[in-house]
Amino acid sequence: MRKPLSSADLGALELLRQQILSGQHDRSALRAALDLRTSYRPEEHGHAHLGYDRLDDFVDALLGTHPPERPYVPLEPGNIPYQPAPARAVLDLIDHAHVRADDVLLDLGAGLGRVPLLAHLLTGCAALGVELEAEYVQQARQRARALRLTRVEFVHADLVGWDLAAASVLFIFNAVGGPQLQRLCRHVDEEAGRRSLRVCALGACALELAQLATLRLVAGDPSDPACLTVLASGGG
Ligand SMILES: C[S@@+](CC[C@H](N)C(=O)[O-])C[C@H]1O[C@@H](n2cnc3c(N)ncnc32)[C@H](O)[C@@H]1O
Repeated sequence: MRKPLSSADLGALELLRQQILSGQHDRSALRAALDLRTSYRPEEHGHAHLGYDRLDDFVDALLGTHPPERPYVPLEPGNIPYQPAPARAVLDLIDHAHVRADDVLLDLGAGLGRVPLLAHLLTGCAALGVELEAEYVQQARQRARALRLTRVEFVHADLVGWDLAAASVLFIFNAVGGPQLQRLCRHVDEEAGRRSLRVCALGACALELAQLATLRLVAGDPSDPACLTVLASGGG
């Protein structure tokens, strides 16, 4: 059950929204506003992202992303239904994968687009979300348009087999399991064997990704599904 936002939250949201719409928001001021609403701290490695907090309500109100009650269409076995990563996991991703304005972040199974939208707003990176549910893709595109964000895009496609070449940072939160995850892992392994790539995972999929020979552990604990795991290849 969501708690109503306080009048301080509403005031901060209004200001931030106006700044974003005018294309002039200050990324560090946005980050400071988010830090005020979560117990996560960057210096804390291996934070367990269990459940949601006040930050999630604030971020949903800022982005206009409101989770549906249930998936629009039943997914095939192996494709995992929508559940947003807690917003503080996106802060963790930015801090420990060192996401910057010159990165291209790819969210594999992007849902309503919270991760690409928020990562772009906080760092200036280009961001792409790949999502199988057409309705989510439409809503995510609508949110990017409403916020006038031109460097955030969403495509309606199967993440398994999606071309990873343009991305410098991958993010996956439990989007696929079973044979689909094994296929994705093979694909990530090939890509990571060719160049620098950062791979960030939340959920059970982290353990499988962490076993890839081309990736080394940078941060997190792959055996804990609530902890963000950051892996990297080459000099990434
Ligand atoms: C656990 S949610 C994570 C959503 C988003 N990454 C976030 O953290 O806010 C997994 C998402 O993956 C999508 N998905 C599942 N199988 C997929 C596939 N094969 N290709 C693309 N998207 C898929 C689901 O529809 C769902 O939106």
